[in-house]
Amino acid sequence: MKKKNFFFISNIYHYLRHLFIIKFGIFTSEKVLNNFFLNLFGIQVIRIFVSNFFLKIRRIFLFLPKKDHKDILFFKRNGYLQINNFLNKKDFNLLKKEFENKSKKFKDIYKGKSRDKIVDKFKFDITKRSKIIKKISEDKRLKNLIEYAEGKKLIFKDKYKKNIFIWFERIVLNTKNSIDGINKDPQTLLHRDTFYQTTKIIFYLNDVNTKSGPFVYSPGSHKLNIRKILTEYLNSILNKDKCIRYKNNFFYDHYKRNELPLVGKANSLIITNTNGFHRREKIRNFSERKTLRFSFRFNPFTLIS
Ligand SMILES: [Fe+2]
Repeated sequence: MKKKNFFFISNIYHYLRHLFIIKFGIFTSEKVLNNFFLNLFGIQVIRIFVSNFFLKIRRIFLFLPKKDHKDILFFKRNGYLQINNFLNKKDFNLLKKEFENKSKKFKDIYKGKSRDKIVDKFKFDITKRSKIIKKISEDKRLKNLIEYAEGKKLIFKDKYKKNIFIWFERIVLNTKNSIDGINKDPQTLLHRDTFYQTTKIIFYLNDVNTKSGPFVYSPGSHKLNIRKILTEYLNSILNKDKCIRYKNNFFYDHYKRNELPLVGKANSLIITNTNGFHRREKIRNFSERKTLRFSFRFNPFTLIS
């Protein structure tokens, strides 16, 4: 009898797992489900609440000694934190040297389509980081923030190659003002990356002013409030833009009004929750932006921290 019960429960579990994960993709990291009726019944909102609940549970299991640290409090309230003079002079010079070395291997991600603006990248293998990249990624202040943000222990192992990305990036504008290419760049439209908390780091390697394409963030837009829930719900049933950009964003004016260009001197580091609305400012007037970037995106429906 007991054995029968076990098989019955096990079958139900496998059936539900198949239904929710494989058939409908409800508990996956898919940004918005491609199912009008499920969205109409509020499945996007349920996914947001469940993933948020899972994040809170993960944070309990994760030993976070300084949850009330001023960095965490600021990050929690605003959705970003800017740290000026992040590295000491010697380490920052080392990093700049590494950027110059790696720039020989940069890949033009526009593949020469728009020569007035060049976006070059070099992606690191997270298991073979150089000494300076390792030093930055294991910096205690940063590590505390990332672990809090993701509710996860930060480990740079093979199994996280699809969750953690590290790369150098260079954006150059070779004209005074570009119309083609720039206006079409989706990165310059205010958007949120996905429906759950994800973390990105933008480390400026040169001085970045309003003309050199600073990172722009709408503080507080990561918070789970009525406005955010309605934005997500309406987008899930009315639109097809998985990142909720400009014309698909019901509360666009509100988020746009509050946006803040995070300009900074070389050696400024920004850590941000890209569940909040953000964009890259259009680059103007023969400018250039060099950055070291990190991206962390884990399964939102896991309890393993
Ligand atoms: Fe983004």
